[in-house]
Amino acid sequence: MIELSVVVPTYNERPNVGELVRRLDAALQGVRWEAVFVDDDSPDGTADAVRALAQADPRVRCIQRLGRRGLSRAVIEGVLSTAAPAFAVIDADLQHDETVLPAMLARLRGDDGQPAMDVVVASRYVAGGSLEGWDAERARMSRFATALANRMVPTGLTDPMSGFFLMRRDTFDRAVRGLSGEGYKLLLDILASARGAVRLAEVPYAFRPRHAGQSKLDSAVLWEFSLLLIDKKVGRWIPARFLLFSLVGISGVFVHFAVLSLLYMLGHQAFTTSQAVATIVAMTSNYALNNSLTYRDQRHRGLGWWGGLLTFYAICGAGVVANVGVAGFLFERQGWALAAAAGALVGTVWNYAATRVVTWRAR
Ligand code: GDD
Ligand code: MN
Repeated sequence: MIELSVVVPTYNERPNVGELVRRLDAALQGVRWEAVFVDDDSPDGTADAVRALAQADPRVRCIQRLGRRGLSRAVIEGVLSTAAPAFAVIDADLQHDETVLPAMLARLRGDDGQPAMDVVVASRYVAGGSLEGWDAERARMSRFATALANRMVPTGLTDPMSGFFLMRRDTFDRAVRGLSGEGYKLLLDILASARGAVRLAEVPYAFRPRHAGQSKLDSAVLWEFSLLLIDKKVGRWIPARFLLFSLVGISGVFVHFAVLSLLYMLGHQAFTTSQAVATIVAMTSNYALNNSLTYRDQRHRGLGWWGGLLTFYAICGAGVVANVGVAGFLFERQGWALAAAAGALVGTVWNYAATRVVTWRAR
């Protein structure tokens, strides 16, 4: 019977996976473990490297996801694929100290004489933990995000942003259907979604410098994190992205009227010309805002920015048709205000759904 599944999300970690398996093997002597790598089709061939390891060691498995990116969702799939009563999540780049895993497992089960726990988090900030090779900027960003996280989801943890933790499978199952799955902060996501009390403990570890390759954490990550927090607050009623998309849409109405009054009222241009220009400017500004805010994590750059803009124009054009069609239909029966509101809602939902699939399809 497997005691512990170690779930390892990977993106371009080819040079690290072999060493990680060696280290897990050394650290987890006496524990029946398996390692599940969840790779998002890394261009460097990480999945091939993991399968080569799996050939030699049946405790190693690879889940290769196609056409998708996302750390949290990758880990969720990995966990769902396992049968062990407990699982650990650890980065592939050897930054997380795998030698503390046995102590974490003992703490979880209460094997060390202390009460059993549901979740054991490896913390950089509890006494004995540390950060190696972090510049002041990154440390400050991390502290800020930690404070924010504790405000939104009070866990009492010193390191709720940790990507290194161990958990009972049944605790995960209590949360899994409520997870947002956005971004990097799966632990926080789980703790915010788990119903009932969760027994939490922390153990210290020293965060090491990355072994090989690059971090995938960039400014988009802070944005994703805010998205996760918004989603945890309002996601039950409306998806965070739809909320942002609608707010951008409202800003577009203001842009539209600003341009229209500039051209038509002040510039004395023909109304149709003014209206057409205002529409294009507003659509362009909506696209630019959605690209850098709502879909920051998958934003288009360079030439792709223009390609995305064209699909956005086409979809919003169809959205106008839907909007006017619905409004026209209801106008006959329900009066203008309800007709206009329903038309705008249908247009927005269409724009959101279609651009989500076409313009910003998850890459
Ligand atoms: N499958 C998949 N898909 N894996 C990913 C993706 C993705 O889109 N993005 C990153 N990963 C993998 C990386 O290959 C690595 O194994 C792990 O997720 C963490 O990514 P890093 O890019 O190394 O993140 P970091 O070192 O900056 O931050 C990590 O440590 C922090 C401190 O514990 C993360 O685990 C953070 O969540 C954590 O706060
Ligand atoms: Mn890392």
